[in-house]
Amino acid sequence: MENNSRILEVTSLKKYFPVKKGFLKRTVGHVKAVDDIHLHINEGETLGLVGESGCGKTTLGRCILRAIEPSEGSARFKDRKGNPVELTTLDPKQLRKIRRDMQLIFQDPYSSLNPRMTVLNIIGEPLLCNGIAKGEELRERVKRLMEMVGLNSRHLERYPHAFSGGQRQRIGIARALATNPRFIVCDEAVSALDVSVQAQILNLLQDLQEQLNLSYLFISHDLGVIQHISDRVGVMYVGKMVEMAETDALFNTPKHPYTEALLSAKPVPDPRAKSRRIILEGEVANPANPPSGCYFHPRCKYATELCKQKAPEWTEVGKDHYVACHLAGELELQGVHTQ
Ligand SMILES: Nc1ncnc2c1ncn2[C@@H]1O[C@H](COP(=O)(O)OP(=O)(O)OP(=O)(O)O)[C@@H](O)[C@H]1O
Ligand code: SF4
Ligand SMILES: [Mg+2]
Repeated sequence: MENNSRILEVTSLKKYFPVKKGFLKRTVGHVKAVDDIHLHINEGETLGLVGESGCGKTTLGRCILRAIEPSEGSARFKDRKGNPVELTTLDPKQLRKIRRDMQLIFQDPYSSLNPRMTVLNIIGEPLLCNGIAKGEELRERVKRLMEMVGLNSRHLERYPHAFSGGQRQRIGIARALATNPRFIVCDEAVSALDVSVQAQILNLLQDLQEQLNLSYLFISHDLGVIQHISDRVGVMYVGKMVEMAETDALFNTPKHPYTEALLSAKPVPDPRAKSRRIILEGEVANPANPPSGCYFHPRCKYATELCKQKAPEWTEVGKDHYVACHLAGELELQGVHTQ
């Protein structure tokens, strides 16, 4: 890895899901869920990831962690000794070892915790499975983890149903922290929570980040949450990253028409989650059969003939500001402060 402060560097990562049809289940095409993504995350920072439903955020997060197998590309992770490790080609044994360093926090604290396990067993499981602690030491460790996430450690024999939504998410966070990870993918980690509880969990994640020098890939469809927690933000559209910049730059001076459209859209309540979802005009392109040229061209008010024919390249247009748009240098787009 060229840059020492980078904990993760992703290059040309792809995940194509085969589309199978007919009696013989022949592959007739591919859903390009993650299509040639480049990104990096510095140690101790939060990279936010935003985009409409189905754009590939979860698939990207899971491919990086090898929870699903990427089709192509590279994801290099800096191990505890500072050596770069290529995640995409690790064998199962090596993968199990490095997995302690990388964890996932899910959206739904109701379904992701086993209702028949006590909190002690839920949080302690990764410690037991990895041979890190057992018996009385395990109990003590679980108590410490519970205190770290703001739970009463006397409640360690209770079952998940005895806790509120926010407390369950704290249990999920404590479990993720059990193996002492350095990188965490938070996939819609606060989306199912009430707004006031969301703020508490976001603050907890930020405090833990500071104390433990954690790096986050923070996935959310809620721009407010993304703006609050991220140091830098990536915007995805139909499997592609279309813009990435420092948070203020992205929100104040966006360079991609899709980012501008997201920022100007009115969030609407999402029936699946308590947070707000962005709905834009026009239909999202089908990732199994995307349009020619720039995938955003059918919805883009600035589209030219070139946009229909040629895909724009991922280009650095300012310090740490990347965009894939033919007109990135020419357009004066509206940010949140310039409206
Ligand atoms: N196992 C799978 N097999 C086939 N297609 C899949 C699979 N998982 C995801 N996809 C497709 O890949 C695309 C990206 O899905 P993904 O869940 O990553 O999106 P997302 O951005 O996380 O959406 P949301 O905001 O709704 O969580 C979608 O078109 C989805 O239908
Ligand atoms: S490349 Fe063209 S169609 Fe795509 S976002 Fe830029 S202006 Fe719009
Ligand atoms: Mg998702």
